[in-house]
Amino acid sequence: MINKCLFPAAGYGTRFLPATKATPKEMLPILTKPLIQYGVEEAVRAGINTMAIVSGRGKRAIEDHFDISYELEHQIKGGSKETLLDEIRGLISNCTFSYTRQLEIRGLGHAILTGETLIGKESFAIILADDLCHNENKGVLEQMIEVYERYQCSVVAIEEIPMEQTHKYGVIAGKLVDGTDDTYRITDMVEKPDPKDAPSNLAIIGRYILTPDIFDILRETKAGKGGEIQITDALMTQAKEGRVIAYKFKGKRFDCGSVDGFVEATNWFYDKLK
Ligand code: UTP
Repeated sequence: MINKCLFPAAGYGTRFLPATKATPKEMLPILTKPLIQYGVEEAVRAGINTMAIVSGRGKRAIEDHFDISYELEHQIKGGSKETLLDEIRGLISNCTFSYTRQLEIRGLGHAILTGETLIGKESFAIILADDLCHNENKGVLEQMIEVYERYQCSVVAIEEIPMEQTHKYGVIAGKLVDGTDDTYRITDMVEKPDPKDAPSNLAIIGRYILTPDIFDILRETKAGKGGEIQITDALMTQAKEGRVIAYKFKGKRFDCGSVDGFVEATNWFYDKLK
């Protein structure tokens, strides 16, 4: 069982400056809903109701979003706009939200280690809210939990990318397992390689299920590419023992951490509404 979902959300979001100067990147909306709310909804669809958020300075709006606003509720009560809060009210009443702060921005691996206090000694999911995923029938995290239940080891979501984009992602090498065409056992992983050094065009995106020994591994992991503590370096320790599965998910993913991906997601969700 996966009961908890960690949301590393302490990054500066520099690609969205000046919007992210005083507003968390995770609060930027696609239409009327902030990115992190899409992430929480995906976790809920996967049967998770314990949300653990790694936040940082300037991120208080995330806490306020997942809380009741009595003044606002009072103001719109009985009016036509009241239903606009239905979804978020549902999340607030069905989930718990816990927070811890990453004091220094030292990379995704470090952010995950900071979340240990909220997770404890159980396997857990991770959603990077700026990777917005959508699949009509079964959410990406829900698909990954089925893979986890089968293999009982860490699982990362992967996507085929154009070779010239490998420098933006963790890229894997692996062997297809059990005659599947979407599930690989990882043999190698390289963080943000040049296309000529990339072992494949299969890139890790912002969805993970990790076993809790990852915390001990992260504690020993030295800063890697970009001087940051990289989750791919820690995962490589598990992968050497054959304990990391890469799963090519079904559905769409928008890189909303980039302006292009953000605009693409906005247009796609707007067209879907009409
Ligand atoms: P990104 O690489 O997208 O970095 O982090 P960023 O700071 O959010 O954005 P840019 O590149 O400056 O525009 C991927 C995810 O990891 C989190 C971020 O919040 C984001 O969800 N993260 C990254 C942390 O929580 N802490 C870190 O030290 C680094």
